[in-house]
Amino acid sequence: MNKELKILGVVAAFTLILYWGVEPFAHSQMHKHVEGHNLVYDGTADIEEASKDKKEAKKKFWSEVKEIAKLKGDPVAGEATYAMCAGCHNENATNMGGVTPPSLEHAGTIYDKNFLIALIKDPAMATNVDHKYPNGTMTHPMGSISSMVSAPQDIANVVAYLKAKKAGEVTPKEAFIEACSRCHANRYGKLTQLGEIPKTKSNIKTGQDIERMKYDQKVAQEQNALADYLGKLPPDLSIIYRARSEHFLETFIENPQSQLPGTAMPRTGLNHEGMEKVMEYLEETGDPSAPARALAGPWVLGFFFIFTILAYLWKQSQWRDLH
Ligand code: HEC
Ligand code: HEC
Repeated sequence: MNKELKILGVVAAFTLILYWGVEPFAHSQMHKHVEGHNLVYDGTADIEEASKDKKEAKKKFWSEVKEIAKLKGDPVAGEATYAMCAGCHNENATNMGGVTPPSLEHAGTIYDKNFLIALIKDPAMATNVDHKYPNGTMTHPMGSISSMVSAPQDIANVVAYLKAKKAGEVTPKEAFIEACSRCHANRYGKLTQLGEIPKTKSNIKTGQDIERMKYDQKVAQEQNALADYLGKLPPDLSIIYRARSEHFLETFIENPQSQLPGTAMPRTGLNHEGMEKVMEYLEETGDPSAPARALAGPWVLGFFFIFTILAYLWKQSQWRDLH
């Protein structure tokens, strides 16, 4: 056999062994592989992870959630109860207990039904951060809702109202703002914890942008409150899509405790549509040149294809006279 082919064979074999053998093995040793639960929020993982003294309480909680999920909710009655939610969740909401309540405009679209039921029953338990509140959940910033809306039928009605409310299609950015950006900024997406960065102008004479400074100060205050509430400032998520695999992100968002036991990041209860939109936004900001690359791809391939044919024809014509 000719020598070049042998060398090629050896190089190819080594590359494949590294790619399929060594790399996955090293990876599996360095990162625990976590299986997702297909965005089903029924407490299975919570009960498994729970310490002995908490197991029974978690089992009871999630079985009650399951019972409420069976009730038929009345969206009209739910709208009246929703007024209590809107007391905190509205456009003018400001920081309370460390965090600003998010808009619920698309809550019915991006969050799972079971999760929403669990959240109204007991926010700390639903978001799997109950370890932060050893003495009950009233200290969770949304905790008081459990005493305001506690009858199973009332909970079913509010959730039916959220699910029935059609707020138009949710964009990736809206999904991110509603589910994540009260805690996480996204610099490349021009988002802070207070929402979109407003357009301001600097003074022509001094070069200073007073409005922007005032805004930055408000953001700093919000971030300090968040750090007090969560133990640290949640990281900016501009390029997390490039730093972490999609599998890591999805399983982490589904249940942060599965990869970072004890973390203060709550489970956000996204359903498939919500997860898809949030991931789309993270990809968009983390890899802004992706669409341009995808567009250029076929042209580059086409160029090489035509170039190959031309090179071949040229070679043929050069060698014709030599034979
Ligand atoms: C006392 C104020 C208050 C009331 C009343 C309240 N919430 Fe909240 N809610 C909050 C705060 C604060 C947060 C953010 C908590 C956090 O991020 O730790 C929140 C978060 C949420 C979230 C986002 C959870 C996630 O998945 O990330 C949803 C959904 C929600 N609330 C729904 C409701 C519904 C539905 C009601 C009414 C039944 C309601 N809230 C009533 C304060 C409130
Ligand atoms: C109530 C605040 C809060 C919300 C809402 C929240 N997070 Fe977090 N997140 C945190 C905190 C706190 C950390 C830091 C965790 C730690 O180090 O313990 C974190 C960490 C992360 C990390 C970093 C993981 C790593 O290892 O680098 C990712 C990714 C993440 N969050 C994604 C999201 C996404 C996506 C959403 C919305 C669907 C979201 N978070 C909503 C508080 C939040």
